[in-house]
Amino acid sequence: MGSLQKTAACLLFLSVFSSVSHGQLATFICSDVKTEYNKTATISCISNKKITHVVVKRCENCNKQNSCLESVINTWARKDSSEEGRIRLVLQHNVSEVHIQEVKATDEGGYKWHLYSDAGERDGCATLEITAPETEPNLTRNGTKLTCLSPIGHRQREIHWFNGHGTNLTGSASLVSEEAEGGLTSLSSTLHEKPSLAASEYCCTVLYDVHTKRNKTKCLRAHKAVADYLHFTSTADPEIPKTMKEHVATILVLLFLVLCSFAAILYYKYRQRAMARGNFADILRNLLPVLRQYEKAEENAPNQEV
Ligand SMILES: *[C@@H]1O[C@H](CO)[C@@H](O)[C@H](O)[C@H]1NC(C)=O
Ligand SMILES: *[C@@H]1O[C@H](CO)[C@@H](O)[C@H](O)[C@H]1NC(C)=O
Ligand SMILES: *[C@@H]1O[C@H](CO)[C@@H](O)[C@H](O)[C@H]1NC(C)=O
Ligand SMILES: *[C@@H]1O[C@H](CO)[C@@H](O)[C@H](O)[C@H]1NC(C)=O
Ligand SMILES: *[C@@H]1O[C@H](CO)[C@@H](O)[C@H](O)[C@H]1NC(C)=O
Ligand SMILES: *[C@@H]1O[C@H](CO)[C@@H](O)[C@H](O)[C@H]1NC(C)=O
Repeated sequence: MGSLQKTAACLLFLSVFSSVSHGQLATFICSDVKTEYNKTATISCISNKKITHVVVKRCENCNKQNSCLESVINTWARKDSSEEGRIRLVLQHNVSEVHIQEVKATDEGGYKWHLYSDAGERDGCATLEITAPETEPNLTRNGTKLTCLSPIGHRQREIHWFNGHGTNLTGSASLVSEEAEGGLTSLSSTLHEKPSLAASEYCCTVLYDVHTKRNKTKCLRAHKAVADYLHFTSTADPEIPKTMKEHVATILVLLFLVLCSFAAILYYKYRQRAMARGNFADILRNLLPVLRQYEKAEENAPNQEV
């Protein structure tokens, strides 16, 4: 009896082994996915057999499969979609796809799957990663207050401030972080312009990834009043006295030229007048004898009347 049992067990083992080695059991492969924010993510699984049932649960991540929540897909319970169709299953023979439309940052994490076929079942986990939009920083000024806004993005990103020489000014700024749609955040950092910051330029850098240092930067020139204050208080800057001397020299040359032309005009006027006076004198000289005769004539006339 004992040897018979052993042979039976041996035969059973052999049959299982041969069915595995001949590919009789079903295999399932699901791969990790990386999707851009607000696009459609597709978690697809493929089998060598016809897939008969699918169960998918959302988890915090694949290393914490005890954190998994209620299933988003469960064909045993005729649940082919959830969240009003935003998440839905497309099952075709040996290919199973879970489509998640307009993905949010909160969709990121692990998707624990359980797949069934007539030749067996298996479970596993696929990771969904969402790449957030990387918008340009918006740097604006109101008086001496500078505001750097990064309206939407991954919550891990950072805002750093630098002056034109690359000196880190982040310590002087204050940051406000607010929740935005889809698990993203809105960051706003303000910096007050001060002569002590010694900046000719202010730059705001949004660092999207601390590891790769991927970033985008916007710069603004320092406020004129503050920059001028810096210029004049700086003793190492000899340019200002030089330019002022140049200005004085230019003004003197211009003044000299104006005086010269004035003198020339006066000279010509004087000469013209002198010539006119000369002509008048000639006329007078010619007229005088005539006038004198006329006067004499007049002197004699009244005597005649009287
Ligand atoms: C997301 O995409 C949809 C179209 O697919 C669009 O209507 C919507 O405005 C987008 N939302 C954001 C925040 O980009
Ligand atoms: C899935 O099924 C198709 C036929 O429907 C087959 O050609 C393909 O090889 C199968 N895929 C795998 C991985 O077995
Ligand atoms: C930058 O921010 C200001 C104020 O918040 C806003 O008026 C402006 O439209 C923004 N510019 C861009 C390009 O988003
Ligand atoms: C600038 O700041 C003042 C108060 O400091 C505020 O009243 C004004 O609305 C701000 N202007 C803009 C364009 O934000
Ligand atoms: C700038 O200084 C802040 C602290 O003030 C620091 O947290 C940050 O890492 C520095 N940034 C760089 C790029 O060195
Ligand atoms: C921003 O990116 C450049 C390379 O494109 C890098 O040299 C620089 O260090 C980055 N800035 C920060 C603050 O990480």
